[in-house]
Amino acid sequence: MNLKPETYQRIDEVITHYPVKRSATLPLLHLIQEDVGHISEEAITWIAQKLELQPINVLEVVTFYPMFRRAPIGRRHIKVCRTLSCALSGGYKTCDTFEKEFCTHRGEISPDGEVTVEFVECLASCGTAPVVMIDEILHEKVDVTKAKQLSAQIKAEAAARK
Ligand code: FES
Repeated sequence: MNLKPETYQRIDEVITHYPVKRSATLPLLHLIQEDVGHISEEAITWIAQKLELQPINVLEVVTFYPMFRRAPIGRRHIKVCRTLSCALSGGYKTCDTFEKEFCTHRGEISPDGEVTVEFVECLASCGTAPVVMIDEILHEKVDVTKAKQLSAQIKAEAAARK
């Protein structure tokens, strides 16, 4: 596995927190997804070896929890809530705006590799709908205008990296 050195350190440390190695399956999956963005076949096999399990034991956990991704995503992850309050407040238009801004479709990586836009279920901030999470940051009342502003900010940050 090609992980950051600090991820390897955290993995080794996390395993010591559990009396039974297999109990570390979930935290290891989170750490690897945090590092590389998704859970590959290689990651499943690697975790299984590390925790003295069969790959199927790890795969079962990956497929049970919807937060684990099996395929890569863009550099930034834009999650638009589509549950009732957000849907009624324009969440679908918000999502359309992000898709248009980055010339992409939901669930795909944008052509510049910068974003993946997805619908998610309630982000627990229904009173400030429509709500969007970009990476780990919650953005409230994201109407079309604000979605355009956030898109411009992401594009500016991408340009600054080049
Ligand atoms: S319905 Fe969108 S945050 Fe709850």
